[in-house]
Amino acid sequence: MTPTILPRLCATALVLVMGAGAASSDSIAEYMDFFEPLPHLPPIPADNSMTPEKIELGKMLFFEPRISASGVISCATCHNPALGWADRIPRAVGHGGQVGERNTPTVLNSGFLESQFWDGREPDLEGQALGPIQADIEMAMTLAEAIERLKEFEIYHEHFGAAFPDDPDPINQQNVAHAIATFERTLNTPNSPLDRFLRGDVQAMTESQVEGMKLFVDAGCVACHNGPALTDSNFHRFELPGSTDEGRFLVTDDEADMFAFRTPTLRNVAVTYPYFNNGSVDNLHDAVQLMGQQMLGQDFTDDELDKLVDFMHALTGEMPRVEIPALP
Ligand code: HEC
Ligand code: HEC
Repeated sequence: MTPTILPRLCATALVLVMGAGAASSDSIAEYMDFFEPLPHLPPIPADNSMTPEKIELGKMLFFEPRISASGVISCATCHNPALGWADRIPRAVGHGGQVGERNTPTVLNSGFLESQFWDGREPDLEGQALGPIQADIEMAMTLAEAIERLKEFEIYHEHFGAAFPDDPDPINQQNVAHAIATFERTLNTPNSPLDRFLRGDVQAMTESQVEGMKLFVDAGCVACHNGPALTDSNFHRFELPGSTDEGRFLVTDDEADMFAFRTPTLRNVAVTYPYFNNGSVDNLHDAVQLMGQQMLGQDFTDDELDKLVDFMHALTGEMPRVEIPALP
């Protein structure tokens, strides 16, 4: 009897062990299905190809303060490469020291967003780029003047000519926007621990980060924070104590959009504090707790919060290596 039963038991045990193993890796795979590794580049629009000359010009313009009325504010003043390409203050300070209404979002991975700004009022980076130059509380410049200033420098004639070789008069508004947008599309942060984990390196995230990822899915955060940039590109009502910012309503005039804001990317969120549209929350613990309460009607325990915050840290990728340009 023994010889026949034993192999059968062993076989059963083997099936059980294999079954259990398959089930647990399956269950991680299930969670992994909600996320996508960040591609190295976002989609490139057909009418604005990416060339090295355009990237170089866009970089110069991004750091160029002379396209502001004061001559001292550039895109990089608020989107500072040393501060996660944002500014780490609650609300942006622009022309003449004026404080704006909103927190400066990072421009990292902004090419992956389906709309720009907290209220999504611009569909793409090309449309976005000329806004801050003209905004009274940002750079406070007219575009015509900005173009005239650029034309004073021989080196800009050379760079615009190289970036837009088919254009007989290349120093113009559209090309400024196209060059800046092209540069921004290079500011991506691949290979975060989450990306490496999704590609099969199970050691890339700590146990607590994996637990946090599961919680993020099970609690329902993933309903809004999904896809390669961890945003659904949609607008959701979110009320911050004391805030009067009407958000998406200002764009659509639709009551349903009152106090709605675009889901921000969570990539690099650990380095882009403070949080929310008015920068009123300065740490991830509180930000995550508030999300749980307002978006999901759920109070997390300290242990759950720790894990969720640990998972947020797994979203910090490799920062782009950008050599600061020498301006004329
Ligand atoms: C005075 C600070 C300041 C300056 C200067 C500035 N920005 Fe911004 N930027 C902001 C703020 C604040 C927002 C959010 C505004 C809003 O949502 O209404 C923003 C939003 C953006 C966004 C949208 C990101 C997202 O997640 O929606 C991009 C892209 C951007 N800026 C690029 C630029 C470029 C390019 C320049 C230079 C031409 C520039 N910014 C100059 C403060 C600034
Ligand atoms: C219903 C959609 C929705 C759900 C669910 C949701 N979020 Fe959000 N999340 C948003 C929106 C919209 C914002 C921007 C709110 C604002 O500032 O106006 C945001 C902002 C955040 C921020 C701040 C990002 C920044 O740069 O300021 C963090 C962190 C965050 N969410 C994490 C989470 C976590 C963790 C969960 C689950 C506990 C979660 N979210 C659930 C839509 C959602």
